[in-house]
Amino acid sequence: MSDQYKTLAFPPLQAKLAMNVCGSSKVANDILNTNVNGDEGFWGYSITHYKAIHPPLFPGPGLDAMNRVMAQKITSSLERIQSSEVFRLFDFIKREVTLATTDSVYGDQNPFKDPTIVESFWYACQSEQFDVHLLTEYREFQEGVMCLLMGLPQSFVRESFKARELLTKRFVKYFEDNGHEEGSALIKARYEHSIEHKIPLEDIARFETAGAIAILTNTSPTCFWLVYHLYSSPSALGDCRKELGQVLSETSHGIREGSFDKTITLDLTQAKTSCPTLLSSLQEVLRLHSVGISTRLVMEDHVLADKYLLKKGGTVMIPAPVQHREAATWGENVHSFDHRRFLPNEKRSNPVAFRGFGGGTTLCPGRHFASTEIFAFTALMILRFDMQPSGGTWKELTTNKASLWEVTPRPDEDLTVSLVPRPGFHADIKWEVLVTDSDKMMPIAAEDVDALRQPN
Ligand code: HEM
Repeated sequence: MSDQYKTLAFPPLQAKLAMNVCGSSKVANDILNTNVNGDEGFWGYSITHYKAIHPPLFPGPGLDAMNRVMAQKITSSLERIQSSEVFRLFDFIKREVTLATTDSVYGDQNPFKDPTIVESFWYACQSEQFDVHLLTEYREFQEGVMCLLMGLPQSFVRESFKARELLTKRFVKYFEDNGHEEGSALIKARYEHSIEHKIPLEDIARFETAGAIAILTNTSPTCFWLVYHLYSSPSALGDCRKELGQVLSETSHGIREGSFDKTITLDLTQAKTSCPTLLSSLQEVLRLHSVGISTRLVMEDHVLADKYLLKKGGTVMIPAPVQHREAATWGENVHSFDHRRFLPNEKRSNPVAFRGFGGGTTLCPGRHFASTEIFAFTALMILRFDMQPSGGTWKELTTNKASLWEVTPRPDEDLTVSLVPRPGFHADIKWEVLVTDSDKMMPIAAEDVDALRQPN
């Protein structure tokens, strides 16, 4: 039983999918496939990768440094909105979160600073602010990922293929210019890990295109759904604003300092552990919107739960919606957003029923970074602005266009909203987000709750 994760294995599938998406060379593929499932011991690129990237993403100095860059970027992106403005909500969040995330990970030489790269990565952006001619040649990498994953010929995914090649070219330059040396502990660890395993430089760049998928694709949609649900539910919005009010501090400048009357500081480190309703809302968004399908390869005949014979070579698929929308587990209101559902004092039958970040040996290592970023963005937004949907009512949004490989899908259609500074929060106030040193984690997955219960 303890070796079930090897019998129903993820690394061989992960390696195959990465090779298809990245278009890596035979040399790199052979390295990736060597001892891919760890049958000969704890060595090999695939087996040691998770361990290599775990420390920089786990609460501690590496993660704090990434969070500081991210918080500063998010603060200045919202600082630019000084009066009432109309936005396409997902488009706005996607652009700002993509920049904040990639600046934190890749540092000053972040290839995503170029809007062509951002738009190459995401599906065609309809923002009025974006110069559409940039899209003509290099779009739809993310859109065509499913075809790349399936290993379809280039002719099926010409646009996506071109976009991947552009991304690869930029990452080659980034690594040749030693951009990673100015980047986060995460990118340094990923680079070092590849070098240790003698991966050629162009393939390191190719692997980074797949890395960017893990880093980017779920945070923006999750952030979008959280903002959408909070603004469309007055009680959730009120509860979260009240909670956040307790981690704000104010400094009045009396005699005007620069152009600001006072500074309001949001203590993000404190918010991570003292805002259970915001955390519960984030978990509820992942429960309600996650469409991820965890997939495992059956390495040998195996009887699951003394009941089901799984034949060698088969594939096991574990769809999150099945786990997340079972009325027997979640109650009769399983299909609606309940911002209090995950509060510690609310009864839940089985803590591992929530799999928003997966679980066990493949539990998402980026969950602390992603959750902190979503917290920072959402907290600043709801504290500073009121929001109205165009037409005055919040419409139901669908996600029917979601691709099979996605975990948190974006809405099929973007939402036009107007954002208005809240009464009392005018342009003379400077906002800051404070990230102090922290080794505390947010109890976001069942495994985190267990870890927090362990004595030090
Ligand atoms: C809201 C945002 C995110 C969500 C919902 C999410 C969700 C998930 C899920 C469900 C898995 C497990 C897949 C499986 O078991 O089949 C996973 C794996 C992974 N995630 Fe995330 N993720 C997010 C953000 C991030 C970020 C920001 C990073 C990196 C900084 C990241 C890095 C990874 C990696 C590397 C894996 C693969 C782990 C392995 O090798 O086993 N994720 N994620």
